[in-house]
Amino acid sequence: MYGMRMLSVLTCCLSLACASHAFASDKTPSAPEFKLEQFISPETCGGCHSEILEQWTNSMHNLAHKDPVYSRVSQFLRKGLTVEGEIEEAESCVKCHTPVGFVTGFPKEVSDDRSKTPEIATRGIQCDYCHSAVDITKMYNNGLVLSPGQGEDDPGVKYGPFDDAEPDFHEAAFSKLHTESAICGTCHNVKHVAYGTDLETTYTEWENSPYNDADPEKRVDCQDCHMYQRPGIPATGSTERPANPGAAADYSDERPHIFTHYFVGANSGVPAEFGDAEKPAMAEERLKHAATLDLSGITDTKVTVTVTNTGAGHSLPTGVGDLRQVWIELTLSDGAGKPLFRTGIPDDNHVLPDDTVIFRTVLGDGQGNPVLNLAKAREILSDTRIPAKASASHTFDLGMAPKKGQVLQARLLYRGMPQKILNLLPEPALGPLPVVEMAKVSQTL
Ligand code: HEC
Ligand code: HEC
Ligand code: HEC
Ligand code: HEC
Ligand code: HEC
Repeated sequence: MYGMRMLSVLTCCLSLACASHAFASDKTPSAPEFKLEQFISPETCGGCHSEILEQWTNSMHNLAHKDPVYSRVSQFLRKGLTVEGEIEEAESCVKCHTPVGFVTGFPKEVSDDRSKTPEIATRGIQCDYCHSAVDITKMYNNGLVLSPGQGEDDPGVKYGPFDDAEPDFHEAAFSKLHTESAICGTCHNVKHVAYGTDLETTYTEWENSPYNDADPEKRVDCQDCHMYQRPGIPATGSTERPANPGAAADYSDERPHIFTHYFVGANSGVPAEFGDAEKPAMAEERLKHAATLDLSGITDTKVTVTVTNTGAGHSLPTGVGDLRQVWIELTLSDGAGKPLFRTGIPDDNHVLPDDTVIFRTVLGDGQGNPVLNLAKAREILSDTRIPAKASASHTFDLGMAPKKGQVLQARLLYRGMPQKILNLLPEPALGPLPVVEMAKVSQTL
């Protein structure tokens, strides 16, 4: 294996022109572009950038490969496939979830023996991967073009937001790419490699949102929310996003803003599994500043609940929209708290009733039938997620007219994926995933 890898490195030039060819085809795994030794470990970077290393550790970028939900879902989806296009898709996950491994030759596919993944590649989306990026070939399926150095003895140029940095260990250069949503978007837009179905569209959702303003003063990029967040400061569309003054490296001069590297979205369960308490709390803070709820139009037996996406720079939820669950729980109870009507309450096995109002996408097989396995997805059957700054209303029939003294309560809830899907995954059992209350409103009649 190792000998083969050396051989292909020899036959592949390391120039940028060559790197862009390597991404030209989505389907065929390409020859390794780089040697593993070219990538420098996060700990080495953390030797001077200790705060940034601490923030990134146990982030979903750090955990992208080790994430037990991802690793089991990817193995589950690959099982039993026989159609070529479906197999290609199910094998393709590693180019985003284990990107340093993918560009250095192992793993190239989900079926490659995970236990043989080189240590540095198991560290997910890491410092030297993002800071070696110089270009993008396409706005989906990870079109990053890299120009890493030659390892610790010759670390090369690290690209970032400053035009005047003069570190002694590595060279530094300003990169416009790093200051824009596109560097995130190339991985946060996922297309089926054979059928072209839009499986994740976070970048496109942002691109079409009011946050993508032509006026640079009003424009809010991914970084302006996600790289301003720190504990106590959720930095969403509905909150302040104050600058974070400080030093980029231990002992370097103070700057007006240092971009934080927690990369918190909505995932609280996975960082918690790795013993992290800070990121789950930050994910909850983010979710609690993402949306508002409104109870209105109580007429006869009906009540309308309106959800407004006030804080997310993309649809709510975004990312794996076929898995994420944002739903409305509505209850009517009497003065003593006894429930008279309820919807959106999971059963004892953590399964939500079928009639629950859930904001999500449903993938289809091309003939109008829903599919669970994204490898089989040829169409989007429906998308009820709430676009940035938009609202969605739903009218519920309580079956009785609410009376004076009764309490009507609505909650907006989030969890990473349905228990039904977790139950299908290989052992050991996963879940139940945490349920986060995003918003709550109640009214005594
Ligand atoms: C997902 C890609 C990504 C990863 C992983 C990543 N960074 Fe960054 N980093 C960025 C971006 C993008 C910026 C600049 C944001 C901007 O200008 O809008 C940045 C900024 C920086 C800066 C400039 C100071 C600052 O924070 O503003 C330093 C130094 C840095 N990163 C070091 C690191 C180190 C060390 C690690 C690993 C522990 C790391 N980065 C991991 C994308 C990444
Ligand atoms: C020996 C100390 C040291 C090590 C090790 C180190 N850096 Fe730096 N780095 C610095 C200093 C100092 C700066 C400049 C800070 C400033 O100007 O505010 C810097 C700046 C940066 C910047 C900003 C560049 C720009 O022009 O915007 C990035 C990105 C960066 N480092 C990434 C990394 C990565 C990735 C690693 C690991 C591969 C790493 N650094 C390892 C000391 C170091
Ligand atoms: C190399 C591909 C890649 C790049 C570049 C990238 N991401 Fe990610 N990102 C991922 C993957 C893969 C995950 C999910 C890992 C998982 O859940 O197992 C992720 C997860 C996240 C999460 C956490 C989501 C959650 O559910 O909590 C946030 C937030 C995020 N990324 C923001 C960003 C931002 C902001 C940028 C640009 C500065 C960026 N990403 C660049 C691939 C990438
Ligand atoms: C205006 C602030 C804002 C901007 C801009 C923004 N986000 Fe978010 N993001 C949020 C909030 C709030 C949440 C939590 C609610 C949610 O899950 O949608 C979130 C959640 C996420 C998640 C987790 C989604 C989930 O439900 O599992 C990912 C991934 C993510 N963002 C990536 C990005 C990327 C990539 C960009 C740029 C293309 C971006 N965000 C731009 C505010 C923002
Ligand atoms: C183009 C990049 C890319 C590719 C290829 C990709 N993913 Fe992801 N994946 C992401 C991003 C970005 C997120 C974060 C979105 C979010 O948090 O909702 C993510 C999140 C996930 C999650 C959620 C993990 C959690 O902890 O909740 C699962 C599961 C997942 N991916 C499975 C897969 C599988 C299976 C494949 C291959 C069939 C795959 N991904 C291919 C970018 C990618």
